[in-house]
Order: sequence, then structure tokens, then C-alpha cells
Amino acid sequence: MASKTNDNVILCIGAGYVGGPTMAVIADKCPEIKVIVADINPERINAWNSDKLPIYEPGLDAVVKRARNRNLFFTTDVAASVREAGLIFVSVNTPTKTFGIGAGKAADLQYWEKTARFIVEHAESDKIVIEKSTLPVRTAEAMHRILQSNSKGLNFEVLSNPEFMAEGTAIEDLEKPDRVLIGGMETASGRAALEKLASVYAHWVPQDRILRTNVWSSELSKLVANAMLAQRVSSINSISMLCEKTDADITEVSKAVGMDSRVGSKFLKAGVGFGGSCFKKDILNMVYLCEHYNLPEVAAYWEQVIKMNDCQERNFVNKIISNMFNTVAGKKIAIFGFAFKADTGDTREAPAIYVSKWLLDEKAELAIFDPEALPSAKKDLEGCKGKIEYVNDPYEAVKGAHAIALITDWKLFKSLDYDKIFSLMEKPSFIFDGRNILDHEALYKKGFNVFPLGKHSLTHLE
Ligand code: NAD
Ligand code: UGA
Repeated sequence: MASKTNDNVILCIGAGYVGGPTMAVIADKCPEIKVIVADINPERINAWNSDKLPIYEPGLDAVVKRARNRNLFFTTDVAASVREAGLIFVSVNTPTKTFGIGAGKAADLQYWEKTARFIVEHAESDKIVIEKSTLPVRTAEAMHRILQSNSKGLNFEVLSNPEFMAEGTAIEDLEKPDRVLIGGMETASGRAALEKLASVYAHWVPQDRILRTNVWSSELSKLVANAMLAQRVSSINSISMLCEKTDADITEVSKAVGMDSRVGSKFLKAGVGFGGSCFKKDILNMVYLCEHYNLPEVAAYWEQVIKMNDCQERNFVNKIISNMFNTVAGKKIAIFGFAFKADTGDTREAPAIYVSKWLLDEKAELAIFDPEALPSAKKDLEGCKGKIEYVNDPYEAVKGAHAIALITDWKLFKSLDYDKIFSLMEKPSFIFDGRNILDHEALYKKGFNVFPLGKHSLTHLE
């Protein structure tokens, strides 16, 4: 006879960038609920249980410290945790498939499916299983089939509760979300499960921000949200190229366009390209779905967002090479920032990876500085031919360098001593500001040749 679910124990399978911070905030806000985060990777779990957490995220340490070993527990014992919990979030990775049908586009669901089968194998009571990972629309159907195939007479409800936090602002986003989206099956037990999960979020999220939808809308909304955010970045990046040809200034254009309240000002910052583990993967996933449902024009429309991003990354490198007298061979270039954005050590799909590899192909010598991402950078560039230094000090990185390529928008780059930097560099000295965060006029006055993005350059060379 199946026992009832224990709704006061929540488990999250997958202790990554999403599982860790999300569950830490739930535990912090709901002290009466026991929250377990389980992962098959012992190194990750050890790090979650130590003073040096496995991910860098502003505000995360404090939240974890408050709740850890009070009502927040990290463990590798996934089976025991499955037995204990009533609500199970699954936030395992769902990368782009690299093999077989849909390779390069479709989501690789093997980790998700393995987790679903694992839950079936170890469950001894009814469970609510919650999709926290980003998944193709209609995955819940397959999951429900797998879960219901159990011969123990257990009932499993599947909910979709995608995560919208961004890295670097995860804690802020989780504590004050624009919305929490929960999709459920349109059955009495589905609605009851949805309300159970909603009651957890209701501890700190106002009711009007808890959005209830059907499960398919919820799954699809997550993909669409990322696609539309990425589309805005690609749109403004495409215009930055037009600005460079027409003497228009991308910062001014972005401001002028974004002040229209129908457009809005967020996600209109031109840059060297979007990175991160999700934008590209989720758009490709959506492109694959569109192709699958025989919507080739829709697929091509969204695929263009990625092509524009690739083009922007390539353009940045072309600009470096063409302005440095068409060769960077044997020249040292300081890479300022390797993480895909500021305030994270994450380098997944970081533009810096592609920029570095292309510069190495051109036989440039690289000195890479990043306050948080050097260990990941080393792994990303493992096996690359050429001279690469990884340095903990930006002033060390620029010693004898011909150019600085600023790729990540870390605030600290704005407050460096650029007189000192100029004195340490080869002449002529170049700065390529891939994020438009520096004071270009001031740098020009110090003697630098300055190449911002989407606006005219300031050089002493003509
Ligand atoms: P991640 O790679 O950092 O973490 C996934 C974790 O799952 C890993 O620690 C891995 O060891 C673990 N795992 C894999 N299979 C397992 C299994 N069978 N049992 C137990 N643990 C297992 O990934 P992430 O960045 O946290 O992303 C997870 C999901 O959330 C993805 O679908 C992603 O698209 C989505 N998402 C990510 C973000 C983000 O900011 N990174 C934001 C929103 C949504
Ligand atoms: C993004 C979404 O913002 C989150 O809502 C979502 O939950 C998450 O993906 C996910 O599903 O993984 P994230 O990738 O962490 O979050 O960070 P963003 O702030 O979206 O930045 C993504 C990339 O776009 C970065 O490389 C950033 O530098 C770039 N970007 C962003 C710009 O170039 N210009 C902008 O105006 C905004």
C-alpha cells in the first residue's frame, strides 16, 4: 500500500547553477520545510558543504550559511532522498544533443530520463515531480508515462516550474521574481499538485506573481522567454554593425529606442555577443521543435538570432586584426574578462572562448585575466596551440601587451589605473572595448587607440 507524500520534505535532483541557489532560497524562506539537494557528483556536493561553494554568485554564501544543516542539506544519497521527499524538483542538465537524430539542435534528455527512471525505482510513496530544468514542450507527457509505468501502484504528478533567474543576479531574482510560473495537468489531482507547489512559493512571492498555466504553456514559455531575450541582444548587436558604418552611436540609438515604453530599455546593450549555457541551447531546441512540427519559416526566423550572435563574435576579432595592421601574430593581447557575463565564474558558451581561439589561430599570444573564471578558462582552452598565460592581476596581463580586448563587463575594469596600464603596454597601444563600459574619450587622451563597439573609433594613427 503506497504511503502518502511527505510535502514537508522537498528534494532537488541536480546541485548545479540552478538547483543550488533555487533550493537555498526555498530553504531560507521556508524554515519549516526540509530541503535536500542531491547530486551524483561528490565533488560538487562536498563543495556545497564547504566554505568554498562550487559556484560564485553574489549573496549566495549568506543564504546557504543561514539554512545549511538547519533545513537545507546537500547529499550524494539520491535514493534515500527520493524515498523521503514528497515534492521532487529535477534540475539536471539538458545540453544540446551531440549525436544521432537532432544532433546539434535537439535537447539531450538522457539525464532527465535517467532521473525519472531512478525516481520510479526508488519511490515508496506518491510524488509530485517538478520540471525545473528547461525542456522541450511536451516533455512532461513522456515523463508522466515513464513515472506511471511503475508497478508499485504509486501516483506521480508532473508539474512544469521553469526557472527564470539569471546568473550574477540569481539570489535577487529568486527572492524577488518577476513571476513564478507553474504549469500543471488539467485534472483534479494535477490542480491539487499545482496548488501544493504554489503554497511553497507563497511563503515569499505575492499571489499575483504566481502564474498558473497548463503544463505545455509553461514548458514553451521558458523557451520563448530565453529566445526573446536573446533576440533583443542580437537585434541591437546587428544595429551596432550598422552604426559603425554610419557614424551613428549604438549607445544613443539604444537609449532612444529603449525609452519607448512599448520597447523598454532592458537587454538592449550591444556587446561582443551573448554567451551562457542556455540562450543558444534553448533557441536551437526551439528551432528543432519547429522543424519537427514542419514550420520551416519559424525555425529559420529563430535560427537567425544565433547566426547574428556568431557574426558579432567573429566581427569583434576581425576588428582587432584589421586595426592592428592586419596581423596579430607574435603580439601579446590582454584578455580582460573570460566569464560569459559579470559576477559569475561561469564560462559556458562565453564569447571569450571563441575570441581567444580565433586570436590563437592568428598566432597572437594571450594573457587572460578574470577575477572568478580563470579555472574554467584553463579548461576551455586546454589543448589549444599557442602561448597563453592566466594571470590574477590585470596589470600583469598588460605588461608588454599590444592590445587589450575587453570581453566581460566586470565593474572593476572601469576603475583600473589606465595611466599605469598605458605605461606598461607596447606602443601603439590598442583597447577594444567589447562591452562599451570604459571612458573612451579619457583613454584616448591618455594615448590609447580606442575601439568601442557600434560607435566611431578614437585613434592617434591617422
Ligand atoms: P549544471 O550542469 O550546473 O547542473 C546540473 C547538475 O545535475 C550537475 O551537478 C550534475 O551532476 C547533476 N546531474 C546530472 N544527472 C544527474 C542524475 N542522474 N542524478 C543526480 N544529479 C544529476 O546545470 P544548470 O546550469 O544548473 O542547469 C540545469 C537546468 O536548468 C538546465 O536545463 C538549464 O537549461 C536550466 N536553467 C539554467 C539556468 C542557469 O542560469 N544556469 C537558468 C534557468 C534554467
Ligand atoms: C538568461 C536569462 O536572462 C534568464 O532569465 C534565464 O533563466 C537563463 O538565461 C537561463 O535559462 O539559463 P543568463 O544567461 O544567466 O540568464 O544571463 P543574461 O543576463 O541573460 O545574459 C546572457 C548573455 O547576454 C550574457 O553574455 C550577457 O552579457 C549578454 N547580454 C545581456 C548582452 O550582451 N546585452 C544585454 O543587454 C543583456
